[in-house]
Amino acid sequence: MAEVLPLPVAEPSPEDRPVLVLDCGGQYAQLIARRVREARVYSELVPHSITAAEARERQPRALVLSGGPASVYAAGAPKVDPELFALGVPTLGICYGMQLMAQELGGSVERTGVSEFGKTDVRVDGESALFTGLPEEQTGWMSHRDSVAAPPAGARVTAGSPAAPIAAFEDPERRLYGVQFHPEVVHTPHGQEVLKNFLYGVADAPPSWTAAAVIEEQVERIRAQVGSARVLCALSGGVDSAVAALLVHKAIGDQLVCVFVDHGLLRKEEATQVVETFEGHFHVPLVHVSAEERFLSRLDGVADPEQKRKVVGEEFIRVFEEESRRLFQADARAKPARPSSGAAKSAPQVRYLVQGTLYSDVIESGGDASVAATIKSHHNVGGLPEDMEMELVEPLRLLFKDEVRRVGEELGLPERMVWRQPFPGPGLAIRIIGEVTRERLEILREADAILQEEIRRAGLYRELWQSFAVLPAIRSVGVQGDERTYGYPVVVRAVTSDDAMTADWARLPYDLLETISSRIVNEVPAVNRVVLDITSKPPSTIEWE
Ligand code: XMP
Repeated sequence: MAEVLPLPVAEPSPEDRPVLVLDCGGQYAQLIARRVREARVYSELVPHSITAAEARERQPRALVLSGGPASVYAAGAPKVDPELFALGVPTLGICYGMQLMAQELGGSVERTGVSEFGKTDVRVDGESALFTGLPEEQTGWMSHRDSVAAPPAGARVTAGSPAAPIAAFEDPERRLYGVQFHPEVVHTPHGQEVLKNFLYGVADAPPSWTAAAVIEEQVERIRAQVGSARVLCALSGGVDSAVAALLVHKAIGDQLVCVFVDHGLLRKEEATQVVETFEGHFHVPLVHVSAEERFLSRLDGVADPEQKRKVVGEEFIRVFEEESRRLFQADARAKPARPSSGAAKSAPQVRYLVQGTLYSDVIESGGDASVAATIKSHHNVGGLPEDMEMELVEPLRLLFKDEVRRVGEELGLPERMVWRQPFPGPGLAIRIIGEVTRERLEILREADAILQEEIRRAGLYRELWQSFAVLPAIRSVGVQGDERTYGYPVVVRAVTSDDAMTADWARLPYDLLETISSRIVNEVPAVNRVVLDITSKPPSTIEWE
C-alpha cells in the first residue's frame, strides 16, 4: 500500500497571529509596536479597552501592555479587561502596564515618594527568561512615580533598581511578565534584547515578518480584493505612492494604471525620474499628464499660502478626475456590459483606487479606515466623484514608514525614491514666498538642485528630515564683478526631526554651507545672497509657508 502523506499544514501568516500592543496612553505605545516589528514579529496597536474575547479572536502570539502617564489609582486611569490575563497568552507589562498587572493580579502598587526618571541601574536577580544572556547589571530607562510594592501572586521578582526594588517580575506558569523600565527606548541599551527574549523565548513567535513576507501577503490580498477589475493609482513622486503602486502592479500587472499629474511644482528632474522608473524600468502603464500650464495659470497672482494650497489641491483633483473619467469611459466602451448580465458591473471598469495610507495614519484616525483615507487624501489625491464608486486599495495600511522603505527596496525601487525626504503636495509653490512665476520656479529649482547635490555628496541626505531651498520674492543689493546687482536671496532650510511635529535646525558643517552658498550665487545668476534658517519648530514651522 502506498504511504499516506499528510497534507502540509500552512504556517499562519504573521498577520494572522499578531502581537497586540495595548495602548495605555503612553507616548511610547507606537514605539513598542515598531520595536516588536523590528524583531520581525508582526504587531498591532489596539486600545487598552479591548476585551478578552476580542483579543482571543485575533489569536495573538502575545500581549504587551504599554506605559502610560496615569497612576493606576487615579480616577479614570486606563484599565484593561482582567480576563486578558486568564487567556494563557504570554503578556508583558511595561511601566504602567506592569503596575496594572500587579494591581489586577493580587500584587500592589504604591507611591513610595521616590520617583525615577531617566537612566537607572537595574540589577538582575536570579534566573530569568527576559534577561537570558544579558549582563546582571544594566541600564534601564525609567519614568515612574508609583512603584510595584508586591508582585502578582505567584510571580517572582527578577530585577530591582535603587528606587524600585521590584523592577521586573515573571510568572512562567501564567505566562505573565512585567518590567518597570522601558525596553523600547534607545536609552535602554539591552531593551531590544529583552523584547526579543520575550517574543522568541517566551511567546515562541517566529521572526517571520519580513519585507518579502509583506509583499507575498499583500499581493494575495490585492488579487483577492480586486479580481479582474481595473485599478487606478495616483503617483506623486513620493515613496508611499510609489511602493503602493509597485505592490499593486506586482499583484495584478497591467490591470493597474498609474496617473502622474505633473503640476510643474516638483524639484528638478523629479518628474523625469518618476516616468523613467515606472514606465521605463518597471513597465507600469502610466498616464503622464504635463499640467504645468494649467497649474501656473490658476496660480497666477496668488500670493497667499493657504490660497496656493487650495488652488493646487483643487486643480489636482480636477486633472485627476478628468484622467480617470477618460480611462473609465474608454474601458466601458472597450468592454460593454452584456445586456443579459444586466449590470455594468460585469464590465472590467476602473473601480479601485490605490491609496498609500500608512499604519500611522490608521492609528491617528483611531483605526477608522474612512477617516484615515480622508487624512491622506487631504494631503495627496483628494476625493473622486461619487458616481465612479471607487473602492480603496490600501496595501500599506499595516506598515510603518520604515517598513514601506524596506518593502520598496525589496521591490527594486531606486534608492533615490525609497529614501526621498518628505515633500509637500503643493510642492515648490509654497517655497516661493510671494507669487509663483515660471521664472521664480526655475531659479528655485536650480538653487534647490545644488543644495540637494551637496547635501547628498556630504552624506547627510538621510540624516536630515528635510533639506531644501526657499525663495522669498524680494530683492537685495549685491555686487558682482564691477556691477551692482539686485537679486533674489535663497534661504537654506535643513532640519532634523522624528515626526515633523517638532524639528531642530541642522548644524550643517561650515565648509558645506560655504560650498552651497558659492555654488548657488555662481551658478544661478538671479541669486546674489544665500542665507541660513537657524530656527527650530516651534516657534517656526519647517516650511516657510
Ligand atoms: P510644517 O511646515 O507645518 O510642516 O512644519 C510639517 C510637515 O508637513 C509638510 N507640509 C505639507 N505637506 N501639504 C503636504 O503634503 C502641505 O500643504 C504641507 N505643508 C507642510 C512639511 O513639508 C513637513 O514635512
